[in-house]
Amino acid sequence: MSEDVSLLTEEAIADEIKALVEKWKDSEGNLIMICHGIQKHYGYVPRNVAKYVSEQINIPLARIYEILTFYNYFTMEPPAENNIAVCMGTACYLKGGGQLVEEIKRKLNLKGDQKYSADRKYKLEEVRCIGCCGLAPVITFNGDVSGRVVVDDISKFIEDKKD
Ligand code: FES
Repeated sequence: MSEDVSLLTEEAIADEIKALVEKWKDSEGNLIMICHGIQKHYGYVPRNVAKYVSEQINIPLARIYEILTFYNYFTMEPPAENNIAVCMGTACYLKGGGQLVEEIKRKLNLKGDQKYSADRKYKLEEVRCIGCCGLAPVITFNGDVSGRVVVDDISKFIEDKKD
């Protein structure tokens, strides 16, 4: 599992990130390249690293957040050991995506909008169309796509959690 770096101090921000900022700080289109580098390094873009970048390249933090939220690829939340995404695009939704979400939540004992299992081994996300509509409903498990998934298939991916 990626370490939770949400409390990183500026001193603890990786040398790799500092070098990345240094390399791109005066180039056009730099923000995207820096964000890619950060996500590659940490598995997500921690808020305090975004703040560090904002200060270093003199760009408002809000502009960085705009980019991070515009591109679906970026995330500001740390990944879990196992990452499950259920497609809730129209085709998948109509073919039972919602039932898959409910079953995963039941197995992981997730309440409301909770995304992480209590042991943080699993993270559940609902995503927009991932481009495999012919296989609806679709889920990805650690990036691997599975199509025509039915509720009973979910136990192949996760066991029931009691905590
Ligand atoms: S709607 Fe799910 S893959 Fe397109």
